[in-house]
Amino acid sequence: MPEKDQIRSHVYDGIQEYDNPMPGWWVMLFWGCIFFALPYWIYYESGVPGRTIYDNYNEAVADNLRLQFEEIGELKLDSATVYQYMNDPKWLKVGESVFEMHCVACHAAKGEGKVGPNLTDDYWIHVKEIGDIAKVVEKGANGQAMPAWGNRLHPNEIALVASYVASLRGSLPAGSGKAPEPNAKKIPAWQAPAGAAEKTENSSPDADKDSKEKLPEPKPAS
Ligand code: HEC
Repeated sequence: MPEKDQIRSHVYDGIQEYDNPMPGWWVMLFWGCIFFALPYWIYYESGVPGRTIYDNYNEAVADNLRLQFEEIGELKLDSATVYQYMNDPKWLKVGESVFEMHCVACHAAKGEGKVGPNLTDDYWIHVKEIGDIAKVVEKGANGQAMPAWGNRLHPNEIALVASYVASLRGSLPAGSGKAPEPNAKKIPAWQAPAGAAEKTENSSPDADKDSKEKLPEPKPAS
C-alpha cells in the first residue's frame, strides 16, 4: 500500500482520515508567501523615507510638475518669488518633495532640526528676509556644513524648496523642535516684498487655468 493511503488511527464521530501531505503546490505557496513577506515588510516598514505609497505618490506628482516647469519659466531666487510660491499649494508640493529627498537628513522630516538648525521657528542665522532662504540653499553656509545646492538642483527646485521652508515657519508648536542655534537671531514675520501683490496677480496666469485639475491631498500620518 502506498504511504499516502494510510489511515490514521483516530476516529472522530465515526470519521477517519487519511494521512496525506498537503499538495506540493499549496505548500510552495505557503512558504513562498512567508519568504516574500519578510523582505517586503522590511522594505516598507523599516522607516526609510521615500518608500511609502504616500512618498511615491508625492514624488510622482512632483516629477510630473517638473515636466511642467516650462509653464512657470525659470524662477528668480528673490524674495518676491519665494513669497509668491509659499502661497501656492500646487507648486509647494515640488518644494516639499525636494525637501524630503535632500534636506530631511539634516533638518529632519518636519524641519524641526537635527544636524542642521530648526527651520520652523523664528530664529535664523543667515536669513533676514524670505528671499535669503533661497540664497542660502543655492550657495550653502558655514563652509558647506550646509551644502550648496546651486549646481545640484534646478533653480526652480531651489526657489520652490525655499518657499516650502518658508511655509514651515510656525508649523510646529514653539519649543518643540531643536533649540535655536546660539548665533541665530529672532527675525520679523515674512514680509510681502514691495510690489509683490500685483506681481502675484499677473505673474501666475496658470493659477486659474490649473485649478480645474485639482490635486488630491494625500497626507501621510507622520
Ligand atoms: C549635510 C547636512 C545638511 C543638508 C543635507 C541640508 N542642510 Fe541646510 N543647513 C545645515 C547646517 C549645518 C546649517 C547651519 C549652517 C550654519 O550654522 O551656518 C544649515 C542651514 C540651513 C538654512 C539656514 C538656516 C538659518 O538659520 O539661517 C536653510 C534655509 C537650510 N539649511 C535649508 C536647507 C535645505 C532647503 C536643504 C535641502 C535642499 C538643506 N538645508 C540641506 C545642514 C544641512
